[in-house]
Amino acid sequence: MDKKVIGDIFSSVSGIYDRFLSAVTLRRIHSWQRELLEYTDRGEVLIDVGTGTGEVALKGKRMGYKTVVGLDLSYEMLRLAVTKCKDCYFMVADAENMPIGDEKVDTITLSLVYRHLTDRDRFLEEACRVLKKGGRIGILDINKTALTDLLKFLSRTILKPAGILIFGKDKWDFFIHSLENSLTYDQIREELERHGFAVRKKAVKLGGAVLIIIGVRV
Ligand SMILES: C[S@@+](CC[C@H](N)C(=O)[O-])C[C@H]1O[C@@H](n2cnc3c(N)ncnc32)[C@H](O)[C@@H]1O
Repeated sequence: MDKKVIGDIFSSVSGIYDRFLSAVTLRRIHSWQRELLEYTDRGEVLIDVGTGTGEVALKGKRMGYKTVVGLDLSYEMLRLAVTKCKDCYFMVADAENMPIGDEKVDTITLSLVYRHLTDRDRFLEEACRVLKKGGRIGILDINKTALTDLLKFLSRTILKPAGILIFGKDKWDFFIHSLENSLTYDQIREELERHGFAVRKKAVKLGGAVLIIIGVRV
């Protein structure tokens, strides 16, 4: 999917994003994000990729990272992030082409972002480049399960006319695309290992609907 469309879609929902995410995760998103940071917590420099409204960046700063940078395609999401964390740095940037020097970063986090990336191989090459040896990558995302497959089928069939009417075609296509791109633990582990990461930890939340995976750049 086109990155401009992805950025525009998130910009258009930025005003309701935090409330929506909190509601659909029964407010658990905050403890999952804290857990993601606890498992990855090493060093001084944190890059939160696809930071959105900056929740993980803010939590990372509070946990003691000296330098926290949040990257996102969506300017409107970042406008909200800036108001939350004054001591963080935010930039409009693409995860697949990060404006960061080689081996500068201790930790990379992605909360609900990995499945949205257009070219995950390219991103993982970038993650390897910017991470120091021994640096960590933490991925929190929706797990691909029978439920995501069922939702995908319903969204393409019965729910499609109503979905397009209510949300518009671009947003509905994006919703289906993000369901199609959800991955299992084994798939994410294989991708990480192929790019030189060793997987050190896995946690599942909400009865297996949500995954946290931690990799180390070896
Ligand atoms: C579902 S939101 C997650 C936001 C935040 N991390 C959270 O947990 O609430 C996904 C975010 O990833 C961003 N995104 C998607 N693809 C990206 C890319 N290639 N580079 C940077 N950001 C990207 C979107 O603009 C959006 O803000």
